[in-house]
Order: sequence, then C-alpha cells, then structure tokens
Amino acid sequence: MAPQEPAWWQREIIYQIYPRSFQDSDGDGVGDLPGIIQRLEYLAETLGVDAIWLSPFYPSPMADFGYDISNYVDVDPLFGTLETFDELVREAHARNLKVIIDFVPNHSSEQHPWFLESRSSRDNAKRDWYTWADAKPDGSTPNNWLGMFGGSAWTWDEATGQYYFHSYLKEEPDLNWRNPEVKEAMFDVMRFWLERGVDGFRIDAVLHIMKDPALRDNPVNPGERIVLGNPPLPEYDAQLHLHDQAHSDIHGIFREMRHLLDSYGEERSRMCIGELDIFEWPTWASYYGAALDELHMPFNFGLLRVPWTAQAVRGVVDALEAALPPEAWPNFVLGNHDVSRIASRVGNAQARVAMMLLLTLRGTPTLYYGDEIGMIDVPITPDQILDPLQQWAPELGRDPARTPMQWDSGPNAQFCLPGATPWLPIAEDYRRVNVAAEREDPRSMLVLTQALIAARRASPALFGGAYRSMDNVPPACLVYVRETKDERRVIALNFSSTDQTVALPELGRGRITMSTVLDRREPVNLAKLHLHPNEGCLVTVALV
Ligand code: NOJ
Repeated sequence: MAPQEPAWWQREIIYQIYPRSFQDSDGDGVGDLPGIIQRLEYLAETLGVDAIWLSPFYPSPMADFGYDISNYVDVDPLFGTLETFDELVREAHARNLKVIIDFVPNHSSEQHPWFLESRSSRDNAKRDWYTWADAKPDGSTPNNWLGMFGGSAWTWDEATGQYYFHSYLKEEPDLNWRNPEVKEAMFDVMRFWLERGVDGFRIDAVLHIMKDPALRDNPVNPGERIVLGNPPLPEYDAQLHLHDQAHSDIHGIFREMRHLLDSYGEERSRMCIGELDIFEWPTWASYYGAALDELHMPFNFGLLRVPWTAQAVRGVVDALEAALPPEAWPNFVLGNHDVSRIASRVGNAQARVAMMLLLTLRGTPTLYYGDEIGMIDVPITPDQILDPLQQWAPELGRDPARTPMQWDSGPNAQFCLPGATPWLPIAEDYRRVNVAAEREDPRSMLVLTQALIAARRASPALFGGAYRSMDNVPPACLVYVRETKDERRVIALNFSSTDQTVALPELGRGRITMSTVLDRREPVNLAKLHLHPNEGCLVTVALV
C-alpha cells in the first residue's frame, strides 16, 4: 500500500492556549475568547504556528478550572458566547489556523443537569448515566479505587444511600460510558462542535472512560513505584491501575469515535489526540489501533518527566520510534497546564536546547503558551493557591505553570487592563521576558522559536523525514539525523554546561544554519563539530 499524503495534523505545529491566561479583553482579570481572537495574528504571523488547542471554555463551576463542565455545548460567560466562539473559528481559519478544542468525556461537573438528575433518586432515568455502587456491608467504599487528586474515588451520597465514582475531584463524577445513551449523548457533543467547524479534539483523561464492570480492587503495586504523573502522585502510584481505567473495551469506543470524526469532511481532516499518561511504549502505541483506526495520536508525555540527560532523552525518543506501528505518526510535547514549565524544569539555557529538540523531532510538536518566550513557573504563596490539586498537596500544584501570558513590559504585562487584577500573579520577570521585548532582541527565545518553526515548515526532512539517532557521540550529546531522499538535516544537542566535540565523519560536511544561541551560521565538517555549553546546532548537510 502506498504511504498516504500527510494529513494537516502530521505536518503542523499545535499551540496550546489556556484560555484563562492568554489575553483578557474585558477587565475581569481572566482571559477570554475575544482576547484570543486579538492574538491570532501573533500566533499565525509572528510565531507561525498552524493550529491552536483551547483548554476548556465551557460553562463550569471551576472546581477544576473548567475541566468540571456543567454544559458541554455552550461557552462560559466568563469567556464569551457561542457567537464569540464561531467568530474565533472564522478568524482562525481565515489565518489558516486550525482549531482543536478540549473534549472532556470522562466526567462532568456535579452541577451538570445530568448528574443533578442522576443523584435525585435511585430510580431516576439518568441514575445509570454515572457510576453508582452500594457500600460494603461495613459501610466502606465499594472497592479500593483512588481519586487522582487524593483520597478515595468514591463519595457517599446520603440522600440516595450509594457511593458515586470520580476519577478526579468529587465535584467531577465519572460518566458511565457503558450506558449507550451516555455514549450517544457524548457523540452528539462531538457532532455539535464539529458542525461549528472545529478541526479536532484533545480528549481529556481518555483512558478513564472504560473501567472494569465488576469493579474489582486494584492490586498493590508490588515492585518499583510506577510514577504516573508529573509530579508523582505517591498515594495513587502505590496501586497498579489495572481495573479503574483502560479496560480493553476502550478500543471499541475509540473506533467509534474515529468513525465519527472520519465522517466529517475528508478522511483524517478532523483529528483527535488523546490525553494519556503511559510510558510503556508498546501499550501507548496500542491506542493508535491495530488497523490505525483509533486515536489519530495518543499524546506522548515522554519528554515531560524524562531526566534531562542526552541519553535518557534519546532513550525515550528511540523507544517510542521503535514501538510505533508502521504509518503511525508520533508527537512530542515539552509542557502543558498540568506540569512545571520546561524552563523551570531544565533551566533557561537548556530550554533553548529543548525547543530545538521539540521542533526538529519526527512528530507533531505541541507548544505550551509562553514557553516560546521562556516563561518560568511563578511562585504561588499559600494565600494565592487556586488549583485544587495544590490545595491538597502544595508541592503538586499547577498554578505556577498557568500564570498570565507576558505580552509587554507595561502594567499587567498587557494580559489585562492596567487596573484589573489578574486571576493568578504575573511573573516578576515580565518586564524582560515578554513578547514585545523579545521581538526586538535578535537572540531571544522568541526569535529562536520563530526561526525553528520557520525552518521546520520549510524543510520536508524536518516536518516529514525519517529519524535516526547516532551512536559514538559524547555522552552529554544527542545527535540525530532527519532526512528524505533529497535532503538531510543533522541536529546536535549539547545537554551539558561544558564544551563538547562531536565527531561523525560519516555524515560529511554541511553548514550550521542555526544554533540555539543564534550566533553561528558557518560551514562545518561533521568530523569535528564543536558545541558550546548548552548549545544545539541545526546543520544542513550537502547530499552528493
Ligand atoms: C487532565 C487535565 O489536563 C487536567 O487539567 C484535569 O485536572 C484532569 N484531566 C481532569 O479533567
């Protein structure tokens, strides 16, 4: 079978927007959809990304900042209206930006009318839309399943005398996808947004939608602690999550979702990328589907918590490449709204190396807002904590990576009006680290990111070519080749703060077209490539 032409989501770069934090247009200190519309030009023209993914903007009590949804088919007034959403899609498409939205199928808000009905009585028609179970004879929970945000995953409902299940907060009861009415209602939600023109979905907590119907206990994790999250969740990770998620029936649901998406427009024109936290690559790869008929891509979180060494990073990329079914398309990400920012995890100098890595690997890159200017985690004082996870365990909190985008050096970094109070504090470094200042600085992180995006777009080897990593390089370096039959790029990354020399005579001669410090463009013989501390180089090799 001839290989298919790449779909848009295989060639393009996705940019994640956390709507609360991108741009406030109405002075309430919370970002909104009109604010995003104002910034589309920045995304399309200045930065040059191709698609935006919007974290949830739906009506929500905001117990989990929008992942607790009380109406799947509307916009929270905090962010705008359905009309604003339509305008956003129109404006984005006019700039050739695709729009991906967050779809949260696993749970609703406890305030969703479906759950209000479900909990109203045991014989309500929607009782079975959620997972209810009796207490054990001693009154304890039906099994040992745990919530990812701490404590039992079961909450007792006094009025109806049963427990309900929630994979996350008790304010986020899990829907029962084994009930065909639920499945159809959620597929209708997908249809609703597809008909409004969205190009794809990032599907939240996608593995959680199918659990063991017999509700068997999870076994204790006997061996090495398997760290599922970043940062780790010690109590949760002490169990093997064999029964509370990822039941094998999930593959059937994914195939149905895929069929639904493929029925809109041309095949593969609408996509889905599923959020799952798996680092065992063959299992991870199984969610593409045996016939590549399930998720277009399972999100790959390998770079989010790999120890930041050349060998460990190579290990992740190579293992993932080896596990991929033929024709399955990989993806990479350095950050998101749930983890510490890359510049805080690895430092500013290595964040530049990381950006070169992200934008030169084989696979769709997703860029987290603000990483392109080197934003760091912002310290949150105890009285500023908003994230429910952080309230429960301060060291796990996600507020530091969700702070307002830094647009310029004026009041409130131009995220919101001068008199407004931003919902989370703005980084102290914003007068220096911001879009306007970095646009003027020829060696800024923003200029590096722009240059890498432009280089990727212009090079079939970078956006679509093969990948192979090189042996016989210094342990502190990762060197890989991206190539098509017509062009070859070599990427050499120094993960250390000392000088390194790479000697790969077999790769021939070429030209350094970009370094992460943006200070080198020169001919090079790969028999002796000198790398400065914390430097990455992109080399164009002449093919003879
Ligand atoms: C994963 C989301 O990324 C996270 O922010 C959220 O809290 C949980 N899923 C629950 O929806």
